[in-house]
Amino acid sequence: MQSNSTSAARMRVLSGIQPTGRFHWGNYFGAIRQYIDLQDAGEGFYFIADLHALTTVHDPERLRGFVRDAALDLVALGLDPERATLFVQSDVPEVAELTWLLMTVTPMGLLERCHAYKDKKARGITADAGLFTYPVLMAADILAYDADVVPVGEDQVQHIEVCRDLAGTFNHLYGGNVFRLPKPRLVDGAAKVPGTDGQKMSKSYQNTIEVFEDLPAQKKKIMRITTDSRSMEEPKDPQKDHLYQLFSLLGSEREVFEMGELYRRGGFGYGEVKKAIFAAAEETFAAARERRYKLESIPSRIDEILANGALRARAVAGTVLERAREACGLRGSSVRGHKK
Ligand code: TRP
Repeated sequence: MQSNSTSAARMRVLSGIQPTGRFHWGNYFGAIRQYIDLQDAGEGFYFIADLHALTTVHDPERLRGFVRDAALDLVALGLDPERATLFVQSDVPEVAELTWLLMTVTPMGLLERCHAYKDKKARGITADAGLFTYPVLMAADILAYDADVVPVGEDQVQHIEVCRDLAGTFNHLYGGNVFRLPKPRLVDGAAKVPGTDGQKMSKSYQNTIEVFEDLPAQKKKIMRITTDSRSMEEPKDPQKDHLYQLFSLLGSEREVFEMGELYRRGGFGYGEVKKAIFAAAEETFAAARERRYKLESIPSRIDEILANGALRARAVAGTVLERAREACGLRGSSVRGHKK
């Protein structure tokens, strides 16, 4: 989409992605691809949620690596830093301050009902305050940028509800339109990406295929995907087979149609499908691999992209924070003596 003079009225799309490891096909087809597509539908703000990752990653070197890899992956996969704003969550300290303001209007009971905390507690794991207040930080993430639409997976919809709830309470309490209320946009398909064992692809099942995995290693993994033991001759229903499901994400429309015919006809081996999956994956991600390779060869480039993104993000978050501070009775920027 061309930017033009009406761009001020374009909806702002925002999403955060946790850097907790290399992105796999489940992350890509289930979420990232759809987030990136939305950069054409509105003004995109995308950030790498390193503050949220701190609730699970307690190794500084790994965290640093994850954040950098996430940024490289996202740009390589098509997030365009010229069109969208890509930044790291913790580069915008305004969000942490906003989190505190929101915390003061957050009922404990609301957070007790949130599933991330509830699930951990149910499993007997002791939670820290970071995990407990995770949804408040997420609300600040969203409200700080006046987001209209937040694309998320099913598991995050509850958090958007919390965000709307807190924004509404704050607005109501301080009489005004301090915060814009966001809407969730459910991205579908997260469940439809099977892993190497046929279950949903997820890091916790250790069945992932990483997007930018070394090709020989990726091929080995694909060739080892579990299959059922039906004979080669038997005709099969493609819709019920996880190899076919994977192929349908990667192959062209015609290839997928022809593969479906092959299934229905029978007389072929799963090895052929696996080879086709590998070849289609190689082709699907060839341009992204090339972009990632180039981007990585000039290390300062990604730093520059993130620094620019942080600048743009801070400009917006600073204005919103100022609105919130003034509304609740904290001192305004003019008397605090620092420039906005
Ligand atoms: N909690 C989200 C997840 O785990 C990541 C996230 C953090 C996020 N802040 C956000 C997503 C704000 C959307 C908007 O997937």
